[in-house]
Amino acid sequence: MTGVDTAGGREPGMTAQELIGAADLEAARAAVAGLAVRTPTLASPDLSEQLAGAVWLKAECLQSTGSFKFRGALSRVAALGRAAERGLVTASAGNHARAVAQAARLRGVGCEVFMPRDATVSKVLAAEALGARVRLEGASVDDTFEQALRLAEESGAEFVHPFDDIDVIAGQATIGLELIEDVPDLARVVVPVGGGGLASGIGIALRRAGRDVRLVGVQAAACAPYVDALAGRPVERAAAMTIADGVAIKHPGRLTLPLLRELLDEMLTVEEDQIADAMVFLAERAKLVAEGAGAIAVAALMSGALPPVDGTTVAIVSGGNVDSGLLASLLLRHESEEGRRVRIFTRVPDRPGGLAELLGLIAAARANVVSVEHVREAVPLHVRETGVELTLETRGPGHTEEVLGVLAAGGYEARIG
Ligand SMILES: Cc1ncc(COP(=O)(O)O)c(C=O)c1O
Repeated sequence: MTGVDTAGGREPGMTAQELIGAADLEAARAAVAGLAVRTPTLASPDLSEQLAGAVWLKAECLQSTGSFKFRGALSRVAALGRAAERGLVTASAGNHARAVAQAARLRGVGCEVFMPRDATVSKVLAAEALGARVRLEGASVDDTFEQALRLAEESGAEFVHPFDDIDVIAGQATIGLELIEDVPDLARVVVPVGGGGLASGIGIALRRAGRDVRLVGVQAAACAPYVDALAGRPVERAAAMTIADGVAIKHPGRLTLPLLRELLDEMLTVEEDQIADAMVFLAERAKLVAEGAGAIAVAALMSGALPPVDGTTVAIVSGGNVDSGLLASLLLRHESEEGRRVRIFTRVPDRPGGLAELLGLIAAARANVVSVEHVREAVPLHVRETGVELTLETRGPGHTEEVLGVLAAGGYEARIG
């Protein structure tokens, strides 16, 4: 990236402590105070039991604008001072855009954001609702950077980088400062990594406090450039299609790569199914709505890849901006996998009351009918018989067997599928 100094005149490659000092953290803390939510750190009894050690969740999905990104945006806008009046421009998968749009609105300045063409609809609408001009261009977040930078250069507006910027990183560091205060026996923090600003910030806060805390980064396996970059291998232009759209960044940052090399103890990846399971777990068991990127730290814990430690592990639930349709389909998919939602096929006599008798038996077996469809084609049927496909909600595989037993006793040959 050229043309914009996001390092405040400091050199990438400096140590974390040289790059971001105590004064930067204090300034960031002042910038977020009273505007960003001091999000709760919630104990997770389920994960604690699974991991055989205390696990807490830092609920940044409850942050204003729905993700931690608001902290970095506030910090950057405060640091810009009067320069922010020239207007702001940014590029983002959506969360940073929304956060910058909100920070711009609070400051009373204009804001233009570039997002990839297939950005999550709710993120686009949210940025627009905050008064930002949204431009959907490019196939990935990486593609949108160049356009945003060009506009910043042409218009004189200030470019607010989503992660590779010391003020943004200092803003995200305020999460680390809160963890130090809120979790006395903090031993490990598990952090989602996209461009690496969040993990860099938290790592710097922990270092500055002199706390011996393990920092574990997590990327979606579908787009995990840091795995190669940290190992010193060339970064291929990886596929970016992932349910964790917030972390689908193909290239590590100029500032954040050396920072994470210094600060991270470990980098893990998680698969798409694991991310989906973590989103469902958070909704069902922790009552937290997390988007894919927001759930990847929990996915890493649920995968069993991390051994127990002495002290508390905190997973950062970094954002909750997910389209409700996607979350609903994941919850339904999960019920099907658990055997709590089944599709059965059977036949009923094609006469008045034929279907009602079948439904009466299902009701007696205490299963809930979600949908009923008559099937009269492409299945073997006797004359004056109709096929019926039912989606049922049951209490699980055992209960489904009971329902099938009741139907068999009533003379219905029913099969799953
Ligand atoms: C919800 C969520 N989590 C994590 C990240 C990763 O943050 P970073 O790019 O600072 O690594 C993002 C980035 O947009 C995000 O939106």
